[in-house]
Amino acid sequence: MAVSAGIAAYKVPELVRALVREGHAVRCVLTPNATRFVSPLVLETLTGHPAGHQLFAGQAAVPSEIDHIALADWADLCVVAPATADLLARLRAGMADDLVSATLLATRAPLLVAPAMNVNMWEHPATRENLEVLVGRGVRTVGPESGELACGWEGQGRMSEPAEIAAAVALALGSEAMRGETVLVTAGGTREPIDTVRAIANRSSGRMGFAVAAEAARRGARVVLVAGSTSLPTPPGVERIDVGSALEMRDAVLAALPDATVVVKAAAVADFRPASPQEHKIKKETLPEGESLHLELVPNPDILAELCRLTRESGAQRVIVGFAAESHDVVAAACRKIARKGCDLLVANDVSRSDAGFDVDTNAVHFVSPDGEVEELPLLSKQEVAVQLLDRVAKLRDGHR
Ligand code: C5P
Repeated sequence: MAVSAGIAAYKVPELVRALVREGHAVRCVLTPNATRFVSPLVLETLTGHPAGHQLFAGQAAVPSEIDHIALADWADLCVVAPATADLLARLRAGMADDLVSATLLATRAPLLVAPAMNVNMWEHPATRENLEVLVGRGVRTVGPESGELACGWEGQGRMSEPAEIAAAVALALGSEAMRGETVLVTAGGTREPIDTVRAIANRSSGRMGFAVAAEAARRGARVVLVAGSTSLPTPPGVERIDVGSALEMRDAVLAALPDATVVVKAAAVADFRPASPQEHKIKKETLPEGESLHLELVPNPDILAELCRLTRESGAQRVIVGFAAESHDVVAAACRKIARKGCDLLVANDVSRSDAGFDVDTNAVHFVSPDGEVEELPLLSKQEVAVQLLDRVAKLRDGHR
């Protein structure tokens, strides 16, 4: 556990107690300034191990057993709580000039950060960018929450409560969390052939679905990824089936469905396809001068609605998540859509924003439940949306057991 100098450090002893109670071995390091908010003696007493705050072993304050390399090697997970704006910046830059940053740079263990800071520091582009880079490197985050801040401001920046962080620790350590589940994910856009060289496509990059597949695999699930048009590499541990059109996607999904305990349909499926794709390239010379080319489009089957119907009819205990890309009235449209499709959760995203939806690394989503409950998430990386989404899926699966 690495503690940096934020007022939220006063919650760290509670967090340490919760982790020790859950059976974890905990060792703490502090930045020099963090010792002004929480006493190393408290942490030493709770963990039963020295809590260092100075880098150089030659200095009497640092016993050799808390040497930063030994600590970095010892940890299965490094939790940074609170993670100040300054520490996030230093982590992003790879600094190593104090015991905390040196340990975090030296470790190969996954990192879980619990940011805590003033709302303006949290919203500052520098912090947003630092966090985005860190999340892109696989760093997990928990919080911050919104509310009254110690500095007097209202807004996002409060460190998550110790119980919440302890739950995130359990999840981060537990690559067993989805062991036994088979997660079927669709991602990317479909291509609907017009002729042998042309197709109707859409702007989906596949990033959201690939992030879900990667996260599910990280949690120990068997993952089958049905991928439409995308240039992304297959995430580690994921079985991938490439498809072109919506009809091909439907075949692949229906074939994989019987094994699936969870389905996440992040693909952007074309609603219509050309009625009769031509066997040869359509030549413009064959059209009379000045004439338009008319394409007749016929509706594609709604794969998501079909999966939900099949699951209901079979009585299978399966959680099905749909996505909805909306450009206005996002929540109202999503509420209507979940009723129409019959899925257990709908992830609605506003594609009119330039920082959410198609072809960007971030997403601004609402989770919509069949009973009309709506949960709005802040702008997050697609990896973090995947984490949040699979946490909700885990709860829905628990409800089945
Ligand atoms: O109706 P709409 O296209 O907005 O619904 C989006 C959701 O439905 C996504 O989860 C998408 O994968 C799924 N879908 C589908 N088959 C279609 C159209 C959409 O499975 N033909």
